[in-house]
Amino acid sequence: MPGTANSELKSEVLLRCVGCGAITPVDESGLTCTICGNLLEVLFPLPGSELPNPAALKSLWLKRRTSPLAEDQSGVWRFREVLPALGEAHAPITLREGNTALYELSLCARLAGVQRLFAKHQGMNPTGSFKDTGMTVAASFARKDGFRWVACASTGNTSASMAAYAARGGMKSLVLIPDGKISWSKLSQALEYGAVTCQVKTDFDGCMKILNEIVSRMPIYLLNSINPFRLEGQKTVAFELMEHFDWQPPDHIIVPGGNLGNSSALGKALLEMKDLGLISRLPKLSVIQAEGANALVRTVREKAGRELVQVHAETLATAIRIGNPASWKKAVRVLEASGGTVEQVSEVEIALAKAEIGADGIGCEPASAVTLAGLKKLVKQGFVKPNESVVLVLTGHLLKDPDFTLKFHRGDLFEGRPHEKEAAILATRQRAPIVLDATVDAVLKTLEAAEKQP
Ligand code: F0G
Repeated sequence: MPGTANSELKSEVLLRCVGCGAITPVDESGLTCTICGNLLEVLFPLPGSELPNPAALKSLWLKRRTSPLAEDQSGVWRFREVLPALGEAHAPITLREGNTALYELSLCARLAGVQRLFAKHQGMNPTGSFKDTGMTVAASFARKDGFRWVACASTGNTSASMAAYAARGGMKSLVLIPDGKISWSKLSQALEYGAVTCQVKTDFDGCMKILNEIVSRMPIYLLNSINPFRLEGQKTVAFELMEHFDWQPPDHIIVPGGNLGNSSALGKALLEMKDLGLISRLPKLSVIQAEGANALVRTVREKAGRELVQVHAETLATAIRIGNPASWKKAVRVLEASGGTVEQVSEVEIALAKAEIGADGIGCEPASAVTLAGLKKLVKQGFVKPNESVVLVLTGHLLKDPDFTLKFHRGDLFEGRPHEKEAAILATRQRAPIVLDATVDAVLKTLEAAEKQP
């Protein structure tokens, strides 16, 4: 990477441009291709390297789950055969991320009209979001390369995760977040882990623009998902998912789309697993966006995926409030390779789906709930058949955005907004807190009334 603090380090990692296909050693490249300006990805497997035996890999990865070593206990590093090599001399920065649960969602399955529905809950990671799986890898490479500073622009989860891994790795971190547009819970995480946290008076896309300029001038390592090492870590979620299914892929995987790093990473993993002989067919990977932040949906529908349609993003699902997604080309490639699709969902549909996932005893943050809202539409359209198996990737924990949840249950989430009328359908899921006199009688009466409710 440019500005590499420790320039004598030579790495065996090669990067390939997703536009022109040019291949460069990591030590000689930046975050974008010097020939055509497109994003880069880690080349795997390395040309000429011997491909590992799939059966041996499966049993090795499973065996590591009972090992006491930190790098084996990490749900990311236990798959290290498919990750860029950190080298013997460098320990990974790990919080024992990954190894998240796969839950069956029975209520949501009924509501969506499918027989088998699962949630791969990435909100169960150490800082409460899927970002940790990528951060452990990219932060470890930043430290290996001798960086003192790491930085990101964020809608909240990347910054929380980066700040934690930087602190664990003895590095300083700089966070740029859109002023007033991220949840307090995510902001408080960055503060607690000691990041220099700047609330910039712009949106995510504006923060990204400023940060790109800063990292080009200073020896600061960029930890946004345009960093190919982030996506390598996030890849392991798909490996773990296939392991859950004993390497018999489900029919559909559905993910939320923001900056589109996650969908790109999962897609890269699926293609690699197929090439390695770990799975015999690809699940369809589909991406769901909020109607107000639907750059990929429009790119696919209006430009056949060939040219990015940027949008001015607006949604209460602040994590995916992104109008200029960096990894759109990678995501389009994944959609095409896996036969997946794109869909958009309204603010009210997101809120309803979030409460339904909560009612299944799981819970997630608003951005994650677009997956269920999108699935309902895909079933209605016939793209997902009732007898097909579906996995929703839930990207963030319920506690990431308590304001949204409280407002939803109090019934004022859409107050004064254009969606107020449509929001009437949310009433059956709303459970406002009940203020009572301090008597047994008052509680008993409340119980009685609740018993009569459907
Ligand atoms: N879900 C959650 C909870 C997120 O935080 C994000 C992105 C996404 C989905 C979308 O993932 O960008 O890979 O398509 N959050 C970033 C952040 C942008 O800064 O925390 P994506």
